Amino acid sequence: MGINIDLSVKIGNSTLPNPIGTASGTFGYGSEYEELMDLSCIGAIYTKAVTLKPRPGNDIPRIIETPSGIINSIGLANVGIDKFISQKIPFLKTLPCAIVVNVAGSTEEEYLSVVQQLEEVENIWGYEINVSCPNVKHGGLAFGTDPTQIERLTSALRKKTVRPLIIKLTPNVTDITLVARAAEDGGADAISCINTLVGMVIDTQKKKPVLQMKTGGLSGPAIRPVGVAMTYRVSNAVSIPVIGMGGIMNTDDAIQYLLAGASAIQIGSANFIDPRIPQNILDGVKDYCNREGITSIGEFKGLME
Ligand SMILES: Cc1cc2nc3c(=O)[nH]c(=O)nc-3n(C[C@H](O)[C@H](O)[C@H](O)COP(=O)(O)O)c2cc1C
Repeated sequence: MGINIDLSVKIGNSTLPNPIGTASGTFGYGSEYEELMDLSCIGAIYTKAVTLKPRPGNDIPRIIETPSGIINSIGLANVGIDKFISQKIPFLKTLPCAIVVNVAGSTEEEYLSVVQQLEEVENIWGYEINVSCPNVKHGGLAFGTDPTQIERLTSALRKKTVRPLIIKLTPNVTDITLVARAAEDGGADAISCINTLVGMVIDTQKKKPVLQMKTGGLSGPAIRPVGVAMTYRVSNAVSIPVIGMGGIMNTDDAIQYLLAGASAIQIGSANFIDPRIPQNILDGVKDYCNREGITSIGEFKGLME
């Protein structure tokens, strides 16, 4: 028989039942996966980004496979806040896991307005603020690369909510610890680390980029070492929890992030291959803890030599 493992993760004034989450944009609004897996094994669903107005997203083709990952330029396609509340929330509310709404915008007012409307809705666990999408012309990336703007946006959002406020950072910067510290100074409860890296594929016959938007965001195993390194650096630079992601495909990948200092993790592109991966990773993390005599997820921090 195994030891009793405390899987809970405290973020801000709330707790996640376990550290496994499904990353924004790779798990729809949850209902798409209802019949494919047991949603109660997930600690949190991070929804597809929600913006103030509905967005059709970029023209196709907007997704392309690469040798060890995918590049997408979806362009934040989503139903907009009104339909999100009327059409998506009713199902999400029925789920046993935490619902974290991923929020995007092009101006500070847009972010504030989306969060303000979500504050009226019960059963939302918290917000993941996407200041890092590389696929929109006037997207959050402008915020994501500038520590001053990050701190301002975070503290403005902080005034609107007591729910956990998670700032999701882009790796497309010179020094990610500067933006992470700015988010912490603004009052963030946690940092999500990382969004996609800018990538491009060129069709050599047509002599033009494959994606309509030319470049997109690279995710999957190709970015794992970058995600692990950035999680390590950020978790040493801030005292709030870090949620690590990028290329997690199996238990060993997840353990790398936990050893690097992550308090929780998210599984993204792997959901497109096998929706049971989150469940398998949760079981694998429990097995690892049993073997290593780890009694709580918090113990991972400081384990790495
Ligand atoms: C198709 C697709 C859509 C995505 N949409 C969003 C989004 O709306 N908001 C966001 O913050 N991140 C979005 N992401 C980024 C993921 O949440 C995650 O940060 C990234 O894919 C790295 O994890 P992975 O390598 O496990 O996929 C998207 C990623 C993919 C592949």
